[in-house]
Amino acid sequence: MTLRTILEFPDPRLRTRAQPVTRFDAGVERLIDDMLETLYDAPGIGLAATQVDVHQRLIVIDVSQAHNEPLVLINPQILVLEGETSTEEGCLSVPGIFDTVKRAARIRVRAQARDGTVFERECADLLAVCVQHEMDHLEGKLFVDHLSNLKRERIRKKLDKERKTRSRRRATAARSAL
Ligand code: NI
Repeated sequence: MTLRTILEFPDPRLRTRAQPVTRFDAGVERLIDDMLETLYDAPGIGLAATQVDVHQRLIVIDVSQAHNEPLVLINPQILVLEGETSTEEGCLSVPGIFDTVKRAARIRVRAQARDGTVFERECADLLAVCVQHEMDHLEGKLFVDHLSNLKRERIRKKLDKERKTRSRRRATAARSAL
């Protein structure tokens, strides 16, 4: 298994609309295993293939405390949306930023498992929110798109500044290593 690099906002590749998975082969198996490893390493509760620059309709989720209940959704479709809930969300592609997003409180989703089998699942609470958040990624959408333009611009600037500080620190460390 290999850790994959997670793209960060405002990387334009995060805006790509993912294509359906049509072949359930060794490549998909490897992608799933890598994505789960990347998710647990981060650590996070959900990761869409879009975030690791693979534009296929595949997401992995694990909302369990012990990180032992992985859920793989391939070609997911939401069949039913019910109720409303506001949750403080974050995203591995928008590091360190959290804000409240309104979504359906309960959903029914149809998807394929890693072997291609079709299944349906009822999701509520955090799991329902997570599935909706990850499915947005497959459409090239981020949770910050649910916020105001002003807030999104502030977040973009903040992350930009942090990235610059990080690369300056790396450059200094490289010099002193000589
Ligand atoms: Ni996300």
